[in-house]
Amino acid sequence: MKIGVIGTGYVGLVSGTCFADSGNDVICVDIDEKKVEKMRNGEVPIYEPGLNRVFDRSIREKRLSFTTDLEDTFQKSDIIFLCLPTPPGADGQADLSFVLNVADQLGDLFNKYPDYKVVVNKSTVPVGTADKVREKIAAKTDTEFDVVSNPEFLREGAAVEDFMYPERVVVGTRSEKAAKMMKTLYEPFVRSGNPIIIMDERSSELTKYAANAMLATKITFMNEIANICERVGANVDNVRRGIGTDSRIGKRFLFAGIGYGGSCFPKDVQAIHHTAGQHGYDFKILDSVMKVNESQKVSIVEKMKKHYGDSLKGKTVGVWGLSFKPETDDIREAPSLYITDALGKLGVKMKAYDPEAIETFKEAATEDALNNIEFASDRDAVLDGVDALVICTEWNEFRRPDLENFTKLMKEPVLFDGRNLYDLERAEEAGITYISVGRPSVNA
Ligand code: UDX
Repeated sequence: MKIGVIGTGYVGLVSGTCFADSGNDVICVDIDEKKVEKMRNGEVPIYEPGLNRVFDRSIREKRLSFTTDLEDTFQKSDIIFLCLPTPPGADGQADLSFVLNVADQLGDLFNKYPDYKVVVNKSTVPVGTADKVREKIAAKTDTEFDVVSNPEFLREGAAVEDFMYPERVVVGTRSEKAAKMMKTLYEPFVRSGNPIIIMDERSSELTKYAANAMLATKITFMNEIANICERVGANVDNVRRGIGTDSRIGKRFLFAGIGYGGSCFPKDVQAIHHTAGQHGYDFKILDSVMKVNESQKVSIVEKMKKHYGDSLKGKTVGVWGLSFKPETDDIREAPSLYITDALGKLGVKMKAYDPEAIETFKEAATEDALNNIEFASDRDAVLDGVDALVICTEWNEFRRPDLENFTKLMKEPVLFDGRNLYDLERAEEAGITYISVGRPSVNA
């Protein structure tokens, strides 16, 4: 099939590349000339495991190309994906100006080249956006076209795998013609039998928000269970195993920690809460989810205050991990931003390391954090001479260090682990003071 992808951000680039890999001809269009030039030269503008390989292959086999020319892309495509930014607007609702502006241009192009095409919304957009896009285009043309909602469920760090082997594909359209084209497009990705679920546009748009809000709620619920564990002397790992084996609950997304972050959960929870409010419904559970997550992000600082009292000021603390989760350099809404800000404000000096996210962190961190932080070139260099270590991200290289190193390299082997990486018994044997989330403290 001939596919046009408008917008080469995270979603557009991954989708375009993976569609090309499954044999389609894909043109990606972006207004950023420099970025287009770079991609033409084979440079992938984001860090995403596995993307480079598929990207290089698709370019080499001439199925993937990049341009700034929307008109040419339009003419050559049967399906046009809108993968445009929808940043949170001032009122907490997603800003649709990029999407509607492009829809307006598409209206003119449909008029000029009157062939049937399908326009697909892939960005996360408020319920009702497909209707708005349809109205914008229809205002300019009588040409037959369809607008489809097709939300993505990609996880950063596993986006290529998620795209290639989706557990489900959701397609929102009431047009049989468009549904047939979308099925043809996605069938190669669901050969294992996973479903392509066709529904109306509004349900499809809401599905994306419901999925992310449910997952954020699941995590938050476990974070609250962890907070109770700490108070009653229970261990959240045991509780997690105890409930996760119930297939109605499921094993995944039950890991307590220092709160969810990233570009999706915080934004989408806020957006669906806002949409509900606009329609006169108070989505109470999400109110609590947002409040609990905010305090969870700095819960580790509260633990440090409790452990050290006034002597926390003036300490030097190591920080392992800055990105909001492993395998990405994405720092958006990362707990590390809040933790380093709070520690900086308390007059704590910090030494930090992350395998990918130091540069992005520098762009996003607060002054209070940056004025008090220096960066180390590797994991162990952080430990050298620090009074304590805070673990913010569960990168693999932090999972299996020689626990003796903490005793050897740090001034005091005191660990505040926001990701529950180590076994309590091993920490005890190694003589480490180990304070984690929802589990009994060790040697504290
Ligand atoms: C998420 C959704 O998973 C994806 O389907 C959607 O399209 C975009 O949003 P992503 O933001 O990449 O993907 O990250 P994900 O792996 O889902 O983790 C989100 C956050 O939850 C992270 O901050 C992570 O640390 C946290 N988390 C996840 C937990 O705290 N505990 C868990 O058990 C799982």
